[in-house]
Amino acid sequence: MNEKSFVEETQDFSKNLDIGIVKKFVVFNEISSTNVKAKELAQKGEPEGTIVLSEIQKNGRGRFDRIWESPEGGLYFSIILRPTCKSDKTTLLPLLAALSVCKTIKSVCDIPVAIKWPNDVHIGGKKVCGILLESESSKDGLGYVVLGMGINLNIDIDVFSKDFVATSISHEIGIKLDYYGFLKKLLLNLDYYYRLFKEEKYNNILSEWKKNSDTIGKRVCINTSSEKIEGKAFDVDQSGFLIIETDSSEYKRITSGDCFYIE
Ligand code: BTN
Repeated sequence: MNEKSFVEETQDFSKNLDIGIVKKFVVFNEISSTNVKAKELAQKGEPEGTIVLSEIQKNGRGRFDRIWESPEGGLYFSIILRPTCKSDKTTLLPLLAALSVCKTIKSVCDIPVAIKWPNDVHIGGKKVCGILLESESSKDGLGYVVLGMGINLNIDIDVFSKDFVATSISHEIGIKLDYYGFLKKLLLNLDYYYRLFKEEKYNNILSEWKKNSDTIGKRVCINTSSEKIEGKAFDVDQSGFLIIETDSSEYKRITSGDCFYIE
């Protein structure tokens, strides 16, 4: 008997899936980038809850125009969302996604996983998940958000290039995890936190994010597009932006940037 392809397996998986946030799967054995495809579909009017999933990505995209290495064994998907909240709250969505991934990893294995502001999930300083939010707003309120998530699930880390400081869950725990079991738990977590988001329970999300992050209280250096800011990570505000206390006791609000921990 022929083995099922990734697309067929995923179709089987999605048949009996009853998770509010999931409306539809669009599945590929291989794609350039699930985010690019999801944006295309969102522009054509595909509804909230459409998920683009691929076994591998040939041109996975990371934050700040970086490449996201996407070999077989990783979990790569993008979900279309059409939130109706105030625009200053959409920046909470990647934090909510990172929280969902972090909780999912904690529920399947006992490893010291944490979120680094804003939305990197890491194990021992090595990245295990990255999240890319891309959005388009429009005057008629029919804008969209594409939330792309790349999780290094069952990957032999030797396949990563040298400058990609990453690890995989299978490398850390020494066994491979069930792909669809993990995906289902993750979608359930995403559904839970997105529901809180729609109910405007932003404080609940932020307090859980803080419990699962190791950033607050650390000395950090943030590379923004225009400057480097060093200081103590003091807090995150209601939009998920980082408040830094600098050495001159100034408080700076950082909306976006790469965060590095300083020993
Ligand atoms: C980062 O730089 O940390 C963000 C990485 C985001 C990668 C995911 S994989 C699925 C989706 N498709 C993409 O091209 N990128 C995101």
